[in-house]
Formats: sequence, structure tokens, C-alpha cells
Amino acid sequence: MNLKHLALGVAAALAATGAAAQPDEIRPGALWHDTSGHVINAHGGGVLFDRGVYWWYGEHKVYGRAGNKAHVGVHVYSSADLVNWDDRGIALAVSEDPQSDIADGCIIERPKVIFCPKTGRYVMFFHLELKGQGYKAARAGIAVAERPEGPFAFQRSLRPNGAMSRDMTLFVDDDGKAYHIFASEENRTTHIDELTDDFLDYTGRSVRMAVDESTEAQAVCKRGGWYFLIGSGCTGWRPNTARLYRAKSLQGPWERLGNPCRGTRPETGLGPDLTWGAQSTFLLPVAGRPGEVIALFDIWNPANHEESRYVWLPVMFEADRLWIDWKTAWRPQVR
Ligand code: DGJ
Repeated sequence: MNLKHLALGVAAALAATGAAAQPDEIRPGALWHDTSGHVINAHGGGVLFDRGVYWWYGEHKVYGRAGNKAHVGVHVYSSADLVNWDDRGIALAVSEDPQSDIADGCIIERPKVIFCPKTGRYVMFFHLELKGQGYKAARAGIAVAERPEGPFAFQRSLRPNGAMSRDMTLFVDDDGKAYHIFASEENRTTHIDELTDDFLDYTGRSVRMAVDESTEAQAVCKRGGWYFLIGSGCTGWRPNTARLYRAKSLQGPWERLGNPCRGTRPETGLGPDLTWGAQSTFLLPVAGRPGEVIALFDIWNPANHEESRYVWLPVMFEADRLWIDWKTAWRPQVR
């Protein structure tokens, strides 16, 4: 990693240290500090629940426009209560080898981690763009670890079943089958590709959904026999209107239900038409509380992604669909 970026990132992190978030509360859009007082740096993230602990993985962003590229890797935090997060360091580090697919200066976005019962290993997928190629490569990266905190070892990158792959999530169904869900075909169409039982490859079963609807920022959950997918439109880092899809099977047919977001963020006046200035990244089922799901979003600041914020809100299920209402502060129930 470039020392200048490191120094600037450290300076910004120290400057941002100070007033800690109120304990036991999530405050969407506010600065969110870890338990050592530094602002959490885990963007476009996802959360894994593993043996009583939540693990939050996200893009580590350095200061300024340099933060649009990966100069550090994937950061991981752990928590028992979803409010207080311990910094567990860098789970996947970029490589100093310029020949590596994950060389310093590549683009790593939207990392997600699942546990594979067959191999006993933790598997990370992420959107990878090769250094110096902008967003042309459109690949998925795969990394593996023996422990949730890592270190994750990069395995390879590829185009799933030969298709372009950008914004993405992972989903493990009740039957243990895992799926990689991603924006494909120049972001026009979402693909849902089944993974092999070691979660490291593709079975070849692939479904197209939201065809030609230009959906990004896919996040998936299941409740009451329905699969739900929320996503955004494609407007780069600028916010747009979220969209909700629903299906009885991952194979479809998928039905588009419109915008699941409601309410306005008072500090900015941004309402549901612009997703309060945010973009979805993950739907997190709360362990031991069936049917409770938390929706994770990012408020992006591409001029300085260290300043990008997090919006976590509870999902309200109602009459076979879901809603996400703005809240200034709320307390998740974890037991
Ligand atoms: C929107 C995507 O959702 C983000 O993950 C990122 O790829 C930006 N586009 C880049 O402009």
C-alpha cells in the first residue's frame, strides 16, 4: 500500500476519532465508531453470523479520490450486539505483486462472506476490477479462510459461467445451497448462479432476473416462503430509487413491487425517492429471531469514501412484502 495513502488515512481516522456513538443504538447516517473510537471502515459490506458472533466485512477506503480504488483490502469487525464493533483488522489484503489480480490499485467492491459446512472454511466473494482497466473486467474474486477474521487467501477471479459480474451478494438457502447474485450483461440484468457444495465454483445453473432493468446493489433475504431482493438503479455513486422484487423460488418468476423505502431523513431532507441518499448492500437475518431482518445501505462520498456513511434499518414485513422506514436511532434486539 502507498505510504501517502496510509498516512492520510490514519490522519483522517484520528481526526474522526472522538465523540463515540451512543451505546446500544444504531444511528443511521451518523458517524459510527468502533470500540476503540475509530470510524468504522467497511463499505459496501455484508455480515456473517458465526457461532454467536456477527462479522461485518466491507471495503476499506483510503482518504480522498484514491478511495475509489483498493489500496488496503477488505476490513472486518466483530460484534455480539450489532451496535458495538471491535476492529479485527484486514481480512483480505491487496497484493504488493503488480501481477496479482488483487494488486494494490485494483477495485474491490461489495465483499460478502459465507461459511461452508462441507469444507469448514469461510468463503469470500467480491466484485473485482483489474488494476488500470476501469470497470471493464467485471469479474468475481474468490478468497478463503480457516477463521472468520481471516486472513483470507485469494484463490482466483473469473466471470461466473462466462458472464460479466459487478455489484453482488451471496445467499445461502434453507437447504444449504449457496448462490452468487450479481449485476451482469453491462449491469442490465441480474444473474442468480448456484454454487457447488464447496462454495468455490459454479454448478452451471444460472437464472436471469430483472432482465434489462439495470439493477445494482443486490441484497437478498427469505421470509414466509418468499424470496425478496432489493436493489438500486444504476447511477454510479449517486443515489436513486430503490426497488423490491419478490419470488416464491430463486428460479423465479420474480415480480417487481416498487420502492420499499419510506420516510425522510430530517438532516438532509432526502426521502424514499433517493433512498435517503443511500444505496442497498445487504439484508441481514438476525440470529435466533426468525423473520427479523436488518437492511444495510451505504451513503457514498466518492470524493472521500472515508466519509461514506452507513444506514442500517429494521425491515418491516407486511402482507407478503417488506418496507424499510427511516429511523433516526433504534436498538436492535439480538436475543
Ligand atoms: C454503483 C455500484 O453500486 C457501486 O458498487 C460502485 O460500483 C459504483 N457504482 C461505481 O460507480
